[in-house]
Amino acid sequence: MRPRLFLAASLSCATVLAVAHAGASAPGGRAPNMASNGRQPHVNYMTECQGCHMPDGRGIAGRVPAMKGELYRFLDVEGGRAFLVQVPGSANSKLSDADLSALLNWLIPAMGGPAKGGFTPYTPQEVAAYRGKRMVDVVGTRANLIARFPAEAPRTN
Ligand code: HEC
Repeated sequence: MRPRLFLAASLSCATVLAVAHAGASAPGGRAPNMASNGRQPHVNYMTECQGCHMPDGRGIAGRVPAMKGELYRFLDVEGGRAFLVQVPGSANSKLSDADLSALLNWLIPAMGGPAKGGFTPYTPQEVAAYRGKRMVDVVGTRANLIARFPAEAPRTN
């Protein structure tokens, strides 16, 4: 809070208004954290995610679900876009909203989803809004979404 207040105080009036507007556009009421750790999305995946999800996204049988060929399917059901951000591995990571949105926009095609341009990319604002709402029942929410996946090749897990 303190750095933001300091920042706001040192900015011009017009910029302050823009910052306030960015905050207002996030329904959670939180302005997106636009910081970047300077790493490419795939590097952030390597350091923050692949210990559980594995380098190729195959996961760990019985513990971490496979993403490969599966991840993009969440985008086809209502609530799925929010889920990919609110799932604890994403939401609770130390990545900023800007870095997490970039990571997801890289991850979806990398895991066999539509290429960049084939889906609506996440924005830091959208990620901030979803992160502002805590998901209570992860397992139940996930099962509900999967039950509503449009018919396709059978899932393996
Ligand atoms: C400690 C292990 C762990 C780490 C680290 C982790 N995840 Fe996950 N992730 C899981 C598990 C387990 C699930 C299944 C849902 C649940 O139970 O949380 C999951 C589910 C997901 C999903 C939804 C896909 C699905 O099939 O449910 C996404 C998206 C995701 N993680 C992204 C990430 C990202 C991005 C990172 C790194 C910033 C990350 N995860 C780090 C364990 C992890």
